[in-house]
Amino acid sequence: MESVQYTQWETTEEFEMADTKRQWRPWEAGWWAKQLPGGRPAFPLYLLFSVTSFLWIILLSMLLAKVMDLSREMEHLDEQLEEMQLNGSMNSGRLEVLQVALSNLDEKHQILNTKAETVAEKLKNLQESQASLSTSLSQELAEAKEDRENIRSEMFRGLEAVKNGNGSSCQPCPSPWRDFQGSCYFFSKNKLTWSQARDDCVQKQAHLVIINNQDEQNFLTPTEKLGYWIGLRKVKEGVHKWIDGTTLGYTNWNPGEPNDSQGMENCVMMLHHGKWNDFTCEPSSDNWICEKRQIC
Ligand code: BGC
Ligand code: CA
Repeated sequence: MESVQYTQWETTEEFEMADTKRQWRPWEAGWWAKQLPGGRPAFPLYLLFSVTSFLWIILLSMLLAKVMDLSREMEHLDEQLEEMQLNGSMNSGRLEVLQVALSNLDEKHQILNTKAETVAEKLKNLQESQASLSTSLSQELAEAKEDRENIRSEMFRGLEAVKNGNGSSCQPCPSPWRDFQGSCYFFSKNKLTWSQARDDCVQKQAHLVIINNQDEQNFLTPTEKLGYWIGLRKVKEGVHKWIDGTTLGYTNWNPGEPNDSQGMENCVMMLHHGKWNDFTCEPSSDNWICEKRQIC
């Protein structure tokens, strides 16, 4: 049990002095000197309350600042969104324009393609008709040449007939050349390659023999077992031409020829029985026949 002690003041002055002294002790007089029930000081509690409140205020201020920041950021994002929407609508407008331009281009492309196809078709037709024209022209030329040769032979036969009656106006072929229907023919005794044989005929002011009809072939058909180069060669795959550039009219191929054996036979020779065979131009060597016009 706590005992309360009282002071016995002698005089009023003494009491007042003591009272004045007591007022100079603030830690005993203010609210901070208040005590909790039980006599414990209330000051630490006040202090704790104040610090906590202060911290709360700081925390709330920070939160408030953060919220304001966020709202500002939101506003900014809103603005950006609006701007992007605007840009998006502008871009979609541009996209539409581009799509229209693209579809126009597509249309033009298709039209051009169609035109190109038509032109290619026409070109193909033109090339085909040109090819058939040149084939028929060459054929006609060859036929005309053959006709001319036949007429010439006919004329020669007529002249021969006249000669037999009245004497010939044609110069005889030089020895050992043999004459037949207005031409002189040289039969070689040795063998050369096709090119060498061609050059030899040129040197003799003649050419490798060109065979225009069966009569001429019969005249040329060898009597000995010899083969002879003739003036015929391959100019492209499947096409043979005479040495004067004319296409083939009359032919006398051996059965199965020309077979371009091993893909290397570009020149033509007459076999010993008269039939023709395509053969390697080099290094094969063979006899050859030159032909030139008889001078009449
Ligand atoms: C063939 C000819 C060919 C020759 C080549 C013969 O057996 O019938 O076509 O040109 O061989 O050596
Ligand atoms: Ca052959």
